[in-house]
Amino acid sequence: MKKNQSAITICFTNNKGGSGKSTSCANLGYELSAAGKKVLLVDGDMQLNLSLSFFDEEKVLEMAESEKNLYQAVRNKRNLSNYIVPSPYENLDLIPSSILMSQIEYELFLMMQREFILKKCMEEIRNNGQYDYILIDAPPTLGTWVINILCASDYVIVPVEASPWGLFGLANMFDFLNHLRDMTEAEIMGVLVTKVDERKNYYRQTREILDQYREIHVFDSFIHVDASIEWAQDASKPVTVYKKSTRSATEFKKLAEEVMGYGSR
Ligand SMILES: Nc1ncnc2c1ncn2[C@@H]1O[C@H](COP(=O)(O)OP(=O)(O)O)[C@@H](O)[C@H]1O
Ligand SMILES: [Mg+2]
Repeated sequence: MKKNQSAITICFTNNKGGSGKSTSCANLGYELSAAGKKVLLVDGDMQLNLSLSFFDEEKVLEMAESEKNLYQAVRNKRNLSNYIVPSPYENLDLIPSSILMSQIEYELFLMMQREFILKKCMEEIRNNGQYDYILIDAPPTLGTWVINILCASDYVIVPVEASPWGLFGLANMFDFLNHLRDMTEAEIMGVLVTKVDERKNYYRQTREILDQYREIHVFDSFIHVDASIEWAQDASKPVTVYKKSTRSATEFKKLAEEVMGYGSR
């Protein structure tokens, strides 16, 4: 797996919105921390969904409007170590986002080496031994900001919704990642199939199509449609904290085991 003690950095990307990026990032992050790993979550999306997974709206907006969020750090090229907010859970911290993230493309456009700004901001935090895992939630775009996120990552998890349109555009995204080969060493850790509904047949169909990409790993774990996920998000809690016995809680725990075992396969 990784060569040294630096944090394993994983981003969640898919330019298709609603595929389960923020949900997977938040819940995998929680499960890794519950397994005793030290985890930092980085909210890279102006929609603030990752931050909202752990804090109520009032607190998230307060952080978004403060000087202590990812937008301010990147814009001012600051070390992220000074932007950490502890979550309500042990071993789990967050770098909150800002609505101003909508301007980040413009800010980056004016900078030299614009693809590597986030990587530089994260250098210390990735290497100082403070965290085992850093998970970055990306917005549903493929611009310079997402390139920054990919350049700052070791691995990519691609959540895909098990639906007729879930795979639409995925080939473009894989091409996009291939084009970045000389900029980033980030490799796809796996595709995670989400929102699987047993009453419909899309999981099998989705798996069959994904299996045609022979070089791309698909996680054995997948996440069923589970109303508890939305209730948990409404309560700003990980699904396991909201309802331990619910199906998706077990599934995210299994995913965490799979991620922790990655590389020893
Ligand atoms: N397994 C699931 N079961 C039910 N609803 C889900 C599930 N995963 C995600 N959702 C819901 O689907 C929507 C999109 O998920 P989200 O994680 O925000 O996707 P993305 O970050 O890719 O846009 C959210 O409203 C979320 O509550
Ligand atoms: Mg999202």
